[in-house]
Amino acid sequence: MSDSLADLRRSHHCNELGSEDIGATVTLMGWVLRRRDHGGVIFIDLRDRNGITQVVFNPEINPAIHEKAHRLRSEWVIGVRGVVEARPGDMANPKLATGEIEVLVDELRIFNISQTPPFPLDEETEVSDHLRLSYRYLDLRKPAMSANLLTRHQAVRAVRSFLDEHGFIEVETPMLTRSTPEGARDYLVPSRVNAGRFYALPQSPQLFKQLLMIGGVDRYYQIVKCFRDEDLRADRQPEFSQIDMELSFVDEGQIIELIEQMMQALFFKVLGREVSLPFARITYGEAMARFGTDRPDTRFGLELVDISEISGRCSFKVFRDAVDSGGTVRAINAVGCASFTRKELDDLTDFAVRLGAKGLAWVKIKDDGAWQSPIAKFFSDGEKDEIGALLAARPGDVLFFGADQAATVFRVLGELRIELARRLGLMDKDTFAFTWVTDFPLLEYDDQEKRYVALHHPFTAPHEDDLDKLAADPAAVLSRAYDLVLNGTELGGGSIRIHDSEVQGQVFAALGISAQEAEEKFGFLLRALSYGAPPHGGIAFGLDRLLMLMTGSESIRDVIAFPKTQKATCPLTDAPAAVARRQLTELHIRPDWKKEQES
Ligand code: AMO
Ligand code: AMP
Repeated sequence: MSDSLADLRRSHHCNELGSEDIGATVTLMGWVLRRRDHGGVIFIDLRDRNGITQVVFNPEINPAIHEKAHRLRSEWVIGVRGVVEARPGDMANPKLATGEIEVLVDELRIFNISQTPPFPLDEETEVSDHLRLSYRYLDLRKPAMSANLLTRHQAVRAVRSFLDEHGFIEVETPMLTRSTPEGARDYLVPSRVNAGRFYALPQSPQLFKQLLMIGGVDRYYQIVKCFRDEDLRADRQPEFSQIDMELSFVDEGQIIELIEQMMQALFFKVLGREVSLPFARITYGEAMARFGTDRPDTRFGLELVDISEISGRCSFKVFRDAVDSGGTVRAINAVGCASFTRKELDDLTDFAVRLGAKGLAWVKIKDDGAWQSPIAKFFSDGEKDEIGALLAARPGDVLFFGADQAATVFRVLGELRIELARRLGLMDKDTFAFTWVTDFPLLEYDDQEKRYVALHHPFTAPHEDDLDKLAADPAAVLSRAYDLVLNGTELGGGSIRIHDSEVQGQVFAALGISAQEAEEKFGFLLRALSYGAPPHGGIAFGLDRLLMLMTGSESIRDVIAFPKTQKATCPLTDAPAAVARRQLTELHIRPDWKKEQES
């Protein structure tokens, strides 16, 4: 039988007591983290959400209580009352907030016992993600995890109060809705009362927030769940949260300025960090050319350099052919990396090949400036000097080259740049490098679908100067979209929207969406646009990604209380789970899984 809480009232949390409390009688409650028996005296590290306090059971103070403390095991839930004492001189623990004191116990209540946890709840032991998620309630007891939840709470609170001060109101939008245009696969929900029809869970509140602007809401925000059935990675979950906003009567400059202030307030309130404004800005074209990606990590150099011109006239066939067939040759100077072994260079070549490269040419610059490289023989001294000058190459450097169509070169060298930075320890988690990326192309050609698709979504406004190119040269049209990137992660993205139904029609035409298809899919939005839509625009941030970076976590799973695995399952509840045939029948679904498994 467990003890009753009865008259015992908690006086402090386990992170609060210090030398100023010595002599006070206090009551603490929490979980047994560790028990140590030292020659008759028992020490317990007592843990609650906030921290750890050492509590002591001395047989000379209270033999019965001391005897009871013998039974305590990891993760038992207890309450103790006692007197705060200074730890003897050399026993203080500077690593612990409460490390100067301990509590000498004269009352112990055991509220509950616990099975032995399937993994130790210290921070040191490596535990598989699957096991952690299966027992998430234990995992959440770890100080690092409860700190992440607290940071998340503080971040959301800071965002809410900032937006409140700036005239935003929070409006909820439906979860059972129609397909939205973010381009991932939808999660569908069958309708019982409308046979054969399905709701889609929102990939974002995009259309509703635009309707809210047409509804005169002026400034909307929502901390909102979004659902996307896509392949998962460390920074992607099937359900995730956005800080979603939309504003009327603004241009991109005003939105960017407001968001910078929001980020500044957020990082200061939550982390006590000063981020300086304005953030760097770079166009999409420049981001691709310098970093090989539209989400550049600007904490370090290792930038891409265009050497196509020289390559087009050198005698290395691989380079010349790439240029002749409309491709490009780019290079990175891995400064000071000449100590890379042959094995390391081979590993990096494999890395590049896995990303679709045909190879990864490299050059080590020797002490006398000479090239050590499998491709050295193809270049004249003059060409070597020219390439060396473009890359600012010096003895001790290694140059890496990619020759192919631009998209391949950017992908490979963009990733290689990150891999080099990782190996060289250049990715300091404590540095926050914000960058706006602007002037995206409005459309990109989809080779599979054989048509243009929207790079963001089809309601993104084109640059006004580019409108006349929409029909003749769609690829050249730039959009009024902007992304905010932090340390190589896309934190958020948004745009000024089209608020004119004629322009919307032109964009649909460029996307190959017929008037009929547009009417079927987005008729409600097009109709709304014809009833006095104000100029408007907005942005949405991945809250989980933001917190992953703010807390220095490796994965967004560490900042979500109950996340899904890479395979979109929940090991704790075992979702997704089978359902009764009767439920399916009610939903007018007749499954044919057997057939599917056979085919
Ligand atoms: P977008 O699709 O760029 O824009 O999404 C905005 C931000 O949401 C985050 N995000 C994700 N986070 C975790 N897991 C995922 N699967 C995931 N997918 C996206 C990213 C991303 O930058 N409606 C538009 C915004 C707008 O135009 O206002 C939208 O949703 O951090
Ligand atoms: P090869 O002449 O095919 O033996 O290649 C010589 C070097 O060039 C090797 O280090 C290859 O990895 C590299 N290489 C081959 N193709 C490419 C390419 N498309 N881009 C960059 N390097 C390449």
